Amino acid sequence: MSEKFIPLTDHRQFSKKLQIPQQLLAATGKLADSFGRPLHDLRISVTDRCNFRCVYCMPKEVFDKDYQFLPHSNLLSFEEITQLARIFVAHGVHKIRLTGGEPLLRKNIEKLIAMLSGIRTPDGRDLDLTLTTNGSLLARKAQSLKDAGLNRVTVSLDALDEHTFQHMNDVDFPVSDVLDGIQAAHQAGLGPIKINMVVKAGLNDHEIVPMARYFKDTPHILRFIEYMDVGASNGWKLDEVIPSSEIVQRIQAVGMPLIAVDPNYTGETAARWRYQDGAGEIGLISSVTQAFCQDCSRARLSTEGKLYTCLFATQGHDLRALLRDQTLPDHELAISNVVAQIWNNRNDRYSQLRSENTELPEQSRKKVEMSYIGG
Ligand code: GTP
Ligand code: 5AD
Ligand code: SF4
Ligand code: SF4
Repeated sequence: MSEKFIPLTDHRQFSKKLQIPQQLLAATGKLADSFGRPLHDLRISVTDRCNFRCVYCMPKEVFDKDYQFLPHSNLLSFEEITQLARIFVAHGVHKIRLTGGEPLLRKNIEKLIAMLSGIRTPDGRDLDLTLTTNGSLLARKAQSLKDAGLNRVTVSLDALDEHTFQHMNDVDFPVSDVLDGIQAAHQAGLGPIKINMVVKAGLNDHEIVPMARYFKDTPHILRFIEYMDVGASNGWKLDEVIPSSEIVQRIQAVGMPLIAVDPNYTGETAARWRYQDGAGEIGLISSVTQAFCQDCSRARLSTEGKLYTCLFATQGHDLRALLRDQTLPDHELAISNVVAQIWNNRNDRYSQLRSENTELPEQSRKKVEMSYIGG
């Protein structure tokens, strides 16, 4: 099969100019963007590195030995991440997801988890603290992550068939190690575990039914994700997307009937479906065929501290510059007001706009990579 890769321009360098508002106010916990969407969910990328080279995310042709990952000094420290997390929680965030790259590659990640798990919401509740991982280091780390205060994990797994999985991760990583990781996470109590499978037509769509069968009758929730036009390096094409509706049909067609279930909360990425025989549930994440921008309450913090208000944003807001600005009298209050201002002005709804016009050529060339911004 011939793959097309688009040469990468480094859009990490671009960021919007930040202005600190004149009047500084305390956080109310009730931000709303220009479409009235609240801020509930913060995704923090703790490293832009990964030990996989998934063809839809970090294709080898772009992320090769010459690719310039961020130097360590550019990364937010654990103290800086925690300080920012507190500010976001005061604004209404109650779920924090650590992502990457591969977050378990960040040294001493357990220490960061322990620091974040000490944060409480303004009304005194614990955060929903979770992490998305490729599972490669999970067997080794599950217990220490749990002990540090992590609530649950989501594991990416694109196939059970060894050949297909290795072709997708492109580093010959074996399926069995990821399955061991899932098992270890389950034993450590990091559930409910979600399994994320990105479906790319012609590459792993023959694994839809085997994956559904494998995870049926387990407590894990398998989610099928439509291959997205995120980033600029994967050479995305619409005909490589299998619509979620077809995935549901394929599963039902082999004798596993499904019933649609209500979402757990407003703005949930996945549409939920339950097996009619009561053997668990699956999720369908349809960013291409059924955009869910309408209720999107997610903010993303890149590895070097830029705030992105959309997965498909072309520029972030450099919060690290404010954190490290020695001339600021009250960092926390200043950053809190900057965040409020950014969220109040937010009008992102990329997937929805792309559904209306599948081309969007200008923006497609400028998007930042998912490994940098966080999944
Ligand atoms: P749960 O609370 O566990 O359900 O988490 P989640 O579904 O919000 O997070 P997860 O990281 O598991 O998201 C799964 C996948 O959905 C991501 O890897 C992306 O492919 C996609 N996704 C998540 N958030 C967004 C978003 O804001 N926009 C778009 N277009 N896709 C998203
Ligand atoms: N399309 C959909 N999901 C993607 N991810 C990365 N790249 C893409 C893409 N092009 C998501 C997957 C993976 C997580 C780490 O990032 O869900 O499991
Ligand atoms: Fe790494 Fe996840 Fe991207 Fe694959 S999808 S390259 S595991 S960050
Ligand atoms: Fe949210 Fe942007 Fe994804 Fe839409 S495309 S759901 S606005 S992150």
